[in-house]
Amino acid sequence: FFDSMPAPGARPASAALDKLAPYLSGVSSSPGAAGSAEKETKPATKSVAPKLTKWLMGAASKYAGGSVATLAAPPATAAAAVAPLHGPVVRAARNELAREYREWVDTQIAKADDFSIAVIYASAYGNTSAMAQAIARGITKAGVAVEMLNCELSTVEDVATLIAKTDGFCLGAPTLGGHMPTPVSNALGVIVKEASREYPAGVFGSFGWSGEAVDLMESRLKDGGFSFAFDAVRCKFKPTEATLQVCEESGTDLAQAVKKLRRKKQTAETKALASGGAAAGQSDTAAAVGRIVGSLCAVTAKKGDAQSAMLASWVSQASFNPPALTVAVAKERAVESFLLKGATFNLNVLQQGNEKDTIKALLKPFAPGENRFGDMAVDISETNGCAIVTQALSYMECEVEERMECGDHWVVLAKVRDGKLLQDEGLTAIHHRKTGTSY
Ligand SMILES: Cc1cc2nc3c(=O)[nH]c(=O)nc-3n(C[C@H](O)[C@H](O)[C@H](O)COP(=O)(O)O)c2cc1C
Repeated sequence: FFDSMPAPGARPASAALDKLAPYLSGVSSSPGAAGSAEKETKPATKSVAPKLTKWLMGAASKYAGGSVATLAAPPATAAAAVAPLHGPVVRAARNELAREYREWVDTQIAKADDFSIAVIYASAYGNTSAMAQAIARGITKAGVAVEMLNCELSTVEDVATLIAKTDGFCLGAPTLGGHMPTPVSNALGVIVKEASREYPAGVFGSFGWSGEAVDLMESRLKDGGFSFAFDAVRCKFKPTEATLQVCEESGTDLAQAVKKLRRKKQTAETKALASGGAAAGQSDTAAAVGRIVGSLCAVTAKKGDAQSAMLASWVSQASFNPPALTVAVAKERAVESFLLKGATFNLNVLQQGNEKDTIKALLKPFAPGENRFGDMAVDISETNGCAIVTQALSYMECEVEERMECGDHWVVLAKVRDGKLLQDEGLTAIHHRKTGTSY
């Protein structure tokens, strides 16, 4: 069922869930309507087994004969497991998972109808597709919905329809025989003709040796008057973790540019709202929340060959035994994808009076893939490969235990595996604020 999802997006996921509806409850797209599995309490029993075996044998011979289009749906029963191509086999809590997936998909689609970015691409061997998925992740992280479009499975009319309703776009293509594939070239023609020049744009693609496709897309869009939200991402053959990280950060940059444009357009409306009665109450709350203080820290993390870091002050100890702590990480932060369950990172506690250089280095805007540490003096831990800020007061090597979704942040709970004092004396740098609406 998931073969329609070379790059998962909400709409293909929704179509896949529709197909799963007879076998799992909670995935039906029409509210209130339950799949037939709703009534089933148990997965396939012995009585269904002969029917299923017969169906599977029929399916196998049809696949062998190439006539899959005439394949009937399997006999209705509850699924015992869900085996997506992109993740682990799910045996427990299948229906809950499916229900939550449906909710997520519906939210994404509703969001996309309102505000979205198109990721339009083609990929012969999956490399450009992997880049497209990473870019899509970066866009979603920044709170903007993504519309994925594989040019090879769509018409130019599909491209035109999509471009008319999205708020920005990026285009990806492999180089084949010194060119971009024809469907991408056709899509590019539609974009240049139809898309608003205000739209922030981006290009990316995988190549083997000469890589003309990305250059061609870039120059055509530039000549057409578009401006780019990120530098073109070029990747030789299969993208590494570091390249995927560049793609993800580029996606976030694109989303930020689109959001900025929208904010600009909505300024008048926002101003009118802000001067309304509710604003006074809100600023009181914000001022109250702003009295919470935090220790200034540098979070440093590693994923494959990619390194990342961020300045953190929403940090707190969470347990004595085992020693544990929490860090709140904004959903759109580049380092967020380095802090998934099971990942390791270092928390470097900055020293009062000696924190300015590190803060400056961490707050400097950085291009996707740029060395995050800049002039910061760091050592690399032999245990977990993450950076240790040598000017810090102390550092802890941590492992992510849990993540809790909390509005616009993830609260990351981590066990402290090891820790060292780097300076014998000195106090922790504290962050005092005026308002709870910013760090
Ligand atoms: C038939 C063929 C022609 C290719 N021509 C070029 C080329 O002219 N220049 C180049 O840089 N790479 C070329 N490549 C390499 C591909 O661009 C490279 O394999 C890339 O990773 C494919 O990306 P994809 O997986 O997104 O399709 C070619 C590959 C094949 C199979």
